[in-house]
Amino acid sequence: MTTAVFPAAPEFHAGAHAVRTTGRFAVAANPLAAVTGAEIQAPLINGGYARYANLDYGASAPALSVVSAYLNEILPYYASVHRGAGYASQISTSVYENARDIVREFVGGRPDDSVIFTRNTTDSLNLLAGCLPLRDGRPAGEVLYLDIEHHANLLPWQNVPHRSIVAAPTLAATVDRLREELARGGVSLLAVTGASNVTGEILPIRTLAALAHDHGARIVVDAAQLAPHRRIDIAGDDVDYLAFSGHKLYAPFGAGVLVGRTDWLDAGTPHLAGGGAVRDARLDSVSWTTGPARHEGGSPNVLGAAALARATQVISELDPAQWYAHEDAIRSFLVAGLERIEGVTVHRIFADSSPVDDQPSTGTIGVVNFSVEGYDAGLVAAYLSAEHGIGLRDGRFCAHPLLKRLGLPAGSLRASFGLGSRLEDAERLLAGLQQLTQSGLGWDYVVDAGRWVPANDTRNYPHWAPNTPGTAGAAPCTQD
Ligand SMILES: Cc1ncc(COP(=O)(O)O)c(C=O)c1O
Repeated sequence: MTTAVFPAAPEFHAGAHAVRTTGRFAVAANPLAAVTGAEIQAPLINGGYARYANLDYGASAPALSVVSAYLNEILPYYASVHRGAGYASQISTSVYENARDIVREFVGGRPDDSVIFTRNTTDSLNLLAGCLPLRDGRPAGEVLYLDIEHHANLLPWQNVPHRSIVAAPTLAATVDRLREELARGGVSLLAVTGASNVTGEILPIRTLAALAHDHGARIVVDAAQLAPHRRIDIAGDDVDYLAFSGHKLYAPFGAGVLVGRTDWLDAGTPHLAGGGAVRDARLDSVSWTTGPARHEGGSPNVLGAAALARATQVISELDPAQWYAHEDAIRSFLVAGLERIEGVTVHRIFADSSPVDDQPSTGTIGVVNFSVEGYDAGLVAAYLSAEHGIGLRDGRFCAHPLLKRLGLPAGSLRASFGLGSRLEDAERLLAGLQQLTQSGLGWDYVVDAGRWVPANDTRNYPHWAPNTPGTAGAAPCTQD
């Protein structure tokens, strides 16, 4: 493990990586909830190992240990759902259907809201795009969205009548722009992210819901990033639809969810035409059923839904003040440290989103975006991984329009964290960046299949992961 010195945040002294327990950062010494893989040892390119510092929660979070244990408990009972009369089938059906109620409660849903299990947020938003009310066979209104969205909340709307606008430099002015656009009329749905996957800034959902409704539109919130970091209350905030992914919510078993008002969903195009979605099928015609089954054709992901529901229960039991303080402490510490390193720039979209370095933030989740002058983001990520055992994300975060507008067409870096994260992870990142900006790279790196990788990488990887990047036959990166 490297012990390079990094600039100290107010209550800290530079030096080794032991987590200090004084001041407002003390809360971050406690990982708050156990996650799987927390003690993985990553092989370093110049020899030895370091505990893997997972700062890539925004892409996919590790499983909660409780979720992992729960899956082991129910796995023996896994069987077909809905159509089986057997003991295990009935238990599996109960687990699956019960998961809907648990998830509805987690998001503060209305009793009559539909809870549809999908693969992920992308799937959920595509499903909703097929359920917009029609007039003469075409969607009756337009979908309005900002240019800050993840592609999952941007591309599905390009297939239906839509309007996009550029976010303003402040949140307040962005709300004004949306108000003006809604006032022009013709919008049936405002599609907005709960929190930016690029910068972590939270959008004022309750305000935007009221705005949409004032102008006769509904609102869908892409909560892929918000749900793992903040309590959600769709009834309280008057949100019509909400989508999120299990794999970002500590339940990486392939399930996502769409929750919301039933009328559009019951009348919409069935998302997956197939078994279970019909009342009656004939050779060349069909009568579709209503309810979640209309969109969940085929055998559902029972264990994924069960894992997602169990994760929401664990999160619901957290004390929100403690939960937010934990993530805010890591974020504040990290941002303060990054801003002290010469050549490192922290990026944000809005000038008026909550500051992170002078008071505990309520306006930004555990996502920090930055770049290092003179270095490709991909090279920095490869260096941090190979020489320090740190995992974070580089690239354009599936938000190309925003990255271009922020002046980062080639991408930047994103550190993201949550339950199970420790202050030490942020310390390690700062130490690695300090070392890079002061002493440069400690190894040679080359571009292989479009990614920066260490040259002559002879580290041993598990035999069951033969295509690990850096080894022969690595797959090119497609998630940009
Ligand atoms: C804000 C946001 N929306 C949507 C998605 C898409 O999520 P998924 O890949 O689980 O469909 C992501 C994933 O990074 C995201 O961050």
